[in-house]
Amino acid sequence: MGYENIGVTIEGATALVEVQRPDKLNALNDATLTDLTDAFLDLSINEDLRCVILTGGAAKKPAFVAGADIAELAEQDPMLAKERSHLGQGLCDIIESMEKPVIGAINGFALGGGLELALACHFRLASSDARMGLPEVTLGIIPGFGGTQRLPRVIGLGPALELITTGRMIDAAEAFRLGLVNHVYEPDALLDEARKLAKTIGRNGPIAIRFALEAALRGRTLSNEDAMAYEANLFGLVSATDDMREGMRAFLDKRKADFQGT
Ligand code: COA
Repeated sequence: MGYENIGVTIEGATALVEVQRPDKLNALNDATLTDLTDAFLDLSINEDLRCVILTGGAAKKPAFVAGADIAELAEQDPMLAKERSHLGQGLCDIIESMEKPVIGAINGFALGGGLELALACHFRLASSDARMGLPEVTLGIIPGFGGTQRLPRVIGLGPALELITTGRMIDAAEAFRLGLVNHVYEPDALLDEARKLAKTIGRNGPIAIRFALEAALRGRTLSNEDAMAYEANLFGLVSATDDMREGMRAFLDKRKADFQGT
């Protein structure tokens, strides 16, 4: 499918999604949000894929996504703002509930909606020159694509509230210290490291990966007792798969498992 503001490249079992608005540091206008929503819905039903990498395409300055498009935000009335929030939240929910891991490769500015997009990814890798923050309050608004909820879950309430209320931009080293990003790499190495991680994950049982994501993410909204029951049910269900038999047999045969996703 052709998109106006993003590129989607299939590299074996990995899809690379790049936001491409080079003149605007990959800022998310409504058309880009719609492109991303369509792309992730499409990728979610592609059973040949084991992992997705989301990153920013080459821009004037290194950028993952420099936020929602401020030119569009400047014109919004309350109803349009609410719709736009639903559009951004909906995209982030689709990413988070993907049944294959989504790796956010943060290759420059990840601000506002850009950081919120990265927070919806299952994990985040950053280039050493990346800059992250939620500067919405400096514009007189609040984060509206899930940032007020996901940032506290990832780094804890105190540090998250500080970043949200100051609008302060942090560098990759601080983001790593806060647990906001899993790893930091030199800019030239970032994408290859993301691809390596995707390959490592791709060698594991895809149904097991899917259930592990589901147990961890769904479990957050349940009581501890219900979350444990949910995990036990998925643990039971995964034991019905060919992949479980293959994984166990491969170990006993002292060879690498060849998972088929069945
Ligand atoms: N929305 C719309 N346009 C944006 C944008 C955004 N979020 N972020 C950057 N741009 C545009 C700039 O307007 C500029 O366009 P122009 O060349 O047509 O004037 C271009 O991208 C380059 O940005 P510029 O500000 O000149 O680069 P810089 O290196 O001086 O600063 C940033 C980089 C990221 C610090 C700065 O662009 C910025 O603060 N952006 C907004 C970040 C933000 O508040 N995001 C949250 C929105 S809710």
